[in-house]
Amino acid sequence: MQPASSTPPRFPHRHLLGIEGLSARDITTLLDMADEAVEVSRQVEKKKATLRGRTQINLFFEASTRTQSSFELAGKRLGADVMNMSVASSSMKKGETLIDTAMTLNAMRPDLIVVRHHAAGAVHLLARKVDCSVINAGDGAHEHPTQALLDALTIRRNKGTIHGLVVAICGDILHSRVARSNIILLNALGAEVRAIGPSTLLPAGLERMGVEVFTDMRKGLDGADIVMMLRLQRERMNGSFVPSTKEYFHFFGLDAEKLACARPDALVMHPGPMNRGVEIASDIADGAQSLIREQVEMGVAVRMAVLEALASHLPNQ
Ligand code: NCD
Repeated sequence: MQPASSTPPRFPHRHLLGIEGLSARDITTLLDMADEAVEVSRQVEKKKATLRGRTQINLFFEASTRTQSSFELAGKRLGADVMNMSVASSSMKKGETLIDTAMTLNAMRPDLIVVRHHAAGAVHLLARKVDCSVINAGDGAHEHPTQALLDALTIRRNKGTIHGLVVAICGDILHSRVARSNIILLNALGAEVRAIGPSTLLPAGLERMGVEVFTDMRKGLDGADIVMMLRLQRERMNGSFVPSTKEYFHFFGLDAEKLACARPDALVMHPGPMNRGVEIASDIADGAQSLIREQVEMGVAVRMAVLEALASHLPNQ
């Protein structure tokens, strides 16, 4: 059913399954809406009525602290009834259980489902089975669109623009849905994207995604405006990808000496959770160039924007 108003919705999609498929204009619309949501979140009275009467289910098949709580707060600030469901993956019979769970939840008539799942593509599958709007909160090593959006919002608010910036994404690119979504988004908005890591953690064909690839961190950081660090995703590694965390830090850990290779006004980001002393030195994580705490604040705002954008597609009767 179409929304009651005759003006077309600002955001033309019913689901948010990935950054892939969004236009630069779609992305900018969400970032503009998120800027407004930041203002709401900074007021004493943080509530809007956009989702009043709506039901939002957060369905998490993978452990999560910040993403799940961020979606919960975002839904509540918009007036939705939010239910959190954490499903232990060990007790799951994979595909069958996912669809069964989806059908069960669908029967409860939710308006929005936020899903995190360890298998790439699981969220797309679920979106085909339910009647409500679906948001991907991370599917395997595939996409994590709201993380890329919150990163873009953080960058835009600090640098004024994304176009023309040199963004270096460093670390475990191979297993990272954050890297994938960021590469697509940053390219769409005209940044120059670099990937830095040991060759064992760089996926084949990365250059075809519009990325310049470096295995020498100092060279990769040269002239960078943004340094985005990624966690070693050990839970997705089968086998040995790095010799030891000590050696990894020596070559690919961000410390003051390596950060000095980037521009003097370079800003440091990390989606969390951080492994201090593995991919990033503690003093850099907490230092003057770090935006890591601001990213968390922007996370709530971006999720409010996404929920509001999708809400304009919900039936009104
Ligand atoms: C990321 C994720 O889950 O993909 N974290 C997050 O959403 N806060 C990155 C990570 O787990 O390293």
